[in-house]
Amino acid sequence: MASPAASFLFFLLFFGAPTARSSHFNRPAVFNFGDSNSDTGCLVSSGIEAIGPPYGHLFFGNPSGRYCDGRLILDFLLDAMDMPYLNPYLDSLGAPNFRKGCNYAAAASTVLPATPTSFSPFSFGVQVNQFIHFKARVLELRSKGKKLDKYLPDEDYFEKGLYMFDIGQNDLAIAFYSKTLDQILASIPTILAVFETGLQKLYDQGARNFWIHNTGPLGCLAQNVARFGTDPSNLDELGCVSSHNQAAKLFNLQLHALCKELQEEYTDTNVTYVDIYTIKSNLIANYSRFGFEQPIMACCGYGGPPLNYDSRIICGQTKILNGTVVTAKGCDDSSEYINWDGIHYSEAANKYVSSQILTGKYSDPPFSDKMPFLLKLKF
Ligand SMILES: *[C@@H]1O[C@H](CO)[C@@H](O)[C@H](O)[C@H]1NC(C)=O
Ligand SMILES: *[C@@H]1O[C@H](CO)[C@@H](O)[C@H](O)[C@H]1NC(C)=O
Ligand SMILES: *[C@@H]1O[C@H](CO)[C@@H](O)[C@H](O)[C@H]1NC(C)=O
Repeated sequence: MASPAASFLFFLLFFGAPTARSSHFNRPAVFNFGDSNSDTGCLVSSGIEAIGPPYGHLFFGNPSGRYCDGRLILDFLLDAMDMPYLNPYLDSLGAPNFRKGCNYAAAASTVLPATPTSFSPFSFGVQVNQFIHFKARVLELRSKGKKLDKYLPDEDYFEKGLYMFDIGQNDLAIAFYSKTLDQILASIPTILAVFETGLQKLYDQGARNFWIHNTGPLGCLAQNVARFGTDPSNLDELGCVSSHNQAAKLFNLQLHALCKELQEEYTDTNVTYVDIYTIKSNLIANYSRFGFEQPIMACCGYGGPPLNYDSRIICGQTKILNGTVVTAKGCDDSSEYINWDGIHYSEAANKYVSSQILTGKYSDPPFSDKMPFLLKLKF
């Protein structure tokens, strides 16, 4: 008697797994824009911040420039597309290979232009300009000979490539330190107008395939619960900060509308909106069903339960606080935690979120040819 898994495989082979890949997942190159949710090393390469162990310990064996214990959602999606992990635009060492794309995402980046107090100067507009410079350099270098071909995208990859976006979370999160909820809600159209301008610039450069993540339930991040959740009336039934999630939801509603508008306006383009918010809030609400033990508490941090987060000391650091030397340490088993360091998700959570994205059910338009990718992922 065949095992259930073998029978299932037989079923797929016999009746035919869907073979037509989503056009999104059959692309020669990927260009990614965003913040720490998809930064594979830009902020760290820029020299603005250094992160140390235990960042990256699970998969890369070193921090790898990622704000995670291992892989990001972007990494898992690239795995599913049979693509290599993306080199950060600002990484000048190693063997920079940009043949299959480039990652401009930098931690702490916003859609709105950076201000003198911004932690990251690499706002969305700057990232788009970096891309424009990158493309011009690639075309210039290619025109000079074939020596660099194996490191650079072909000219047509700029049109055929997939352009991915995950940005906006910091515009909202940072605003809460100086603005009221009403002011923040009222600023969302301005944030999205700047985002749209960037997308239009990319369209003018030949981009035709857009894959846009909405923003997650930022009120559920330990950092925000610690700072804005001290008044229990501002916490929802999951223990998340209501005002932050309200802002995220309105942002997403308007982002979704923008995606639909762009799809109608640009008929030669594919615009896919991906509902990360629903996937992440379902994960946090129903964490034990998905094998997690801690929905909100950070794995790596200082302070212990209920949040294990202290804004004065980041994961991996040792500092003197209140006259005592303390270290923000990692937990024993990060796969039990949704949250890695109080601000970013753990690799285990990113893997779950990616598996849900790949079902195709959370995107607009949805896609249903999920099996070829899921079979490749080792869950
Ligand atoms: C958009 O998607 C459709 C359907 O998957 C595909 O046939 C088409 O080539 C895509 N358009 C572009 C510009 O890639
Ligand atoms: C948790 O799971 C239940 C049952 O599947 C579902 O109805 C509910 O929407 C989930 N919670 C969230 C916040 O998604
Ligand atoms: C610092 O130590 C004092 C005395 O032990 C304590 O009352 C206070 O809460 C501590 N402050 C912080 C921020 O940990």
